[in-house]
Amino acid sequence: HQRRTRMKNVLTLRMGQYDMDAWYYSPYPRAFLAGECSSSKHNEDDDTTDSAPPPSSGDTPTLPKLYVCEHTLKYFRTEDELLVHHASLTSTDMVPPGKLVYRHPGPRGSHGRLAMFELNGRGEGKRFCQSLCLLAKLFLDHKTLYYDVEPFLFYVLCHEEEFLVPRNNGGDGGGNVTNNNNNNDDDDENGCGTMEEQQQPQQQQPARKKCYRYRIAGFFSKEKHSALSYNLACILVLPPYQRLGYGKFLMDFSYALSRRVGVPGTPERPLSDLGLVSYRSYWTKCLIDVLCEHKGKLSVNELSEKTGFLVKDIVDTLQILGCVRHWKGQYVVCVGAKVLEEARDRLLGRNGSSGKNGVGGWIRVQPSALTWKGPP
Ligand code: COA
Ligand code: NA
Repeated sequence: HQRRTRMKNVLTLRMGQYDMDAWYYSPYPRAFLAGECSSSKHNEDDDTTDSAPPPSSGDTPTLPKLYVCEHTLKYFRTEDELLVHHASLTSTDMVPPGKLVYRHPGPRGSHGRLAMFELNGRGEGKRFCQSLCLLAKLFLDHKTLYYDVEPFLFYVLCHEEEFLVPRNNGGDGGGNVTNNNNNNDDDDENGCGTMEEQQQPQQQQPARKKCYRYRIAGFFSKEKHSALSYNLACILVLPPYQRLGYGKFLMDFSYALSRRVGVPGTPERPLSDLGLVSYRSYWTKCLIDVLCEHKGKLSVNELSEKTGFLVKDIVDTLQILGCVRHWKGQYVVCVGAKVLEEARDRLLGRNGSSGKNGVGGWIRVQPSALTWKGPP
């Protein structure tokens, strides 16, 4: 319904240690922005609103700063309200309301171990998913869904942090627990699906419970049933984490799911400008990588099988790279092994897909870390 971009109603966003400028209008409830009711009312789990609040007539209240909890996504008008919320968090509150489907150590210099949660827009994750959509809209110009989240699944990218809770603390007050910095080695690769682990009692020391909390860095949504082979509806990496390779990681994740069910997919159109550059970069890197591995000797259909990309996206990307020809009604890949190797070294670093991290880097989904078996 919105043909023109509306006036921004939130100027900045505080989430965790980061302040970020909002880019666009987002339909946070008008009464919340105007301070006409308490923040907590809008954060209640039994909120069953399915449609956006009625458009405000006349002046839209503008909030200079919105405070969002990086664990629960509950939103507040003041820092005090956020602090009260933080103090009330239990260790389970700091885990997204969904299924842990992926967990692996993040790249060197990154923010710790990466985890992906699958959330169902219908059910206990509903309010969380609505908050994700409102958050995403702050960085997206075009229309997306905010309140009607039930037809979607949400795949949420988090940084995992380990902390210990004294056992007699009952696991509560997690937000107040000091970090255990001696215990963040990355060799603990088991435990997928286990949010709490037993810490072995050490001699006289009381047993403490090892818990994990999660900070949200980005997500993508996906229609549960798509007639048009869409494997991604909306994608967001929060600004402080942008341009570090997380966008390509989320894209890779969407295709990893498509590959697991054996159906090629594509992102919903239209893509934003940033969405398009990021997809172009992702498709290019993946195709060069796979082609290189097979010395360029793959058909377009074989490329689709191996990557999960739609044939059309493959042809478009290869056309831009100038390495596909139309021949007797078919698209034929035509590129020499040497050219491919040079392209790979340039785009992916000398070590190929596992190599480069940092700005413009490349974090690939590790298939062994993906515990996802199929749609819920
Ligand atoms: N200017 C120019 N290039 C940019 C860019 C920018 N601001 N942001 C990303 N890119 C390029 C990167 O250089 C990178 O290319 P490279 O691998 O050749 O270096 C590629 O796009 C992807 O970078 P990556 O770090 O993997 O992506 P990201 O984590 O920054 O996330 C988006 C990309 C699109 C998810 C992120 O920009 C975003 O959330 N934008 C707002 C929401 C949006 O537009 N979503 C898409 C539409 S649904
Ligand atoms: Na990034």
